[in-house]
Amino acid sequence: MKKALTPLLKKSGSGYNLIMPYFVVEGKNVSRAIASMPGVYQLSVDRMVTEVARAKELGVPGVIIFGIPKAKDAEATGAYDDHGIVQRAVRAVKDKVKGILVITDVCLCEYTSHGHCGVVHCCQENGEMPKKFIRLKDTVALLAKTAVSHVKAGADIVAPSAMMKGQVKAIRQELDKAGFGQTPIMGYSAKFASAFYGPFRDAAESAPRFGDRRSYQLDPKVSTKALSEVAADIAEGADIVMVKPALAYLDIIRQVKDRFDMPLAAYNVSAEYSMVKAAAAKGWIDEKKIVLEKLNAIRRAGASIIISYHACDVMRWKREV
Ligand code: PBG
Repeated sequence: MKKALTPLLKKSGSGYNLIMPYFVVEGKNVSRAIASMPGVYQLSVDRMVTEVARAKELGVPGVIIFGIPKAKDAEATGAYDDHGIVQRAVRAVKDKVKGILVITDVCLCEYTSHGHCGVVHCCQENGEMPKKFIRLKDTVALLAKTAVSHVKAGADIVAPSAMMKGQVKAIRQELDKAGFGQTPIMGYSAKFASAFYGPFRDAAESAPRFGDRRSYQLDPKVSTKALSEVAADIAEGADIVMVKPALAYLDIIRQVKDRFDMPLAAYNVSAEYSMVKAAAAKGWIDEKKIVLEKLNAIRRAGASIIISYHACDVMRWKREV
């Protein structure tokens, strides 16, 4: 691996290299429950810092931060504002909590008024959107700008999740230009257009207002494109590649692992979490055993880094035994 991203990750001792996601919102002392994700909260920066400090104490090696801005607009200006919600959250965490890896999700969907992961063409004369409605060049430029502003704020790794062609290359170029040649990129390389993201869109307030994400995310029925997407991200300069979701795509994780000699992450996504929580709340399953078994499955498939809303719970359980 070219870049120095291993020290924090390998030290975790959990065996899974777990990354805990956080949703950060405006305000002070805010901790708002997300109905479709029991145990997950939208947190203001101050409360998030407290939670990240706790995660650090538990031995969680890293966090990934998602932002929900005050206002959304067509150009996603909140995404690349140096004083935006994620940028402030990163600065606060880096200032107050030492020794935990801070990753930022680089996407526009939380910041666009329409909820798509890029900026879009205006509608056609008949009022409908054209089939290819993403303005790719503009989108990629804004994603790169967003990544640079995250790293300026102190992010250790940026994770572009928009699935826009050329995004990794553009981010690499702009980071290098800005003097951040050593900052690694974790590409959401094989990201499927999945129904398993449903609860996340409640948490991040990022459900698209029209259409869906199938024009830029992968078709869940097809596996072949996943490998070429991963290859493209690697060629463009990704340092870690990711498969997402994890559980319904263990075959893809294994294929990527066998094909590419790269650090491999998997995202145990929101519905994969919420389904376990819902069944556990009913008393139908043994939550601890189910969670450990599924994380083991993801690791067995080949992922060495797992992003999971269960991260803090798992580290806590490990302390209890
Ligand atoms: C942003 C993004 C999404 C997730 C991570 N980054 C949502 C989406 O693509 O709609 C989903 C994560 C989860 O479900 O936990 N593009």
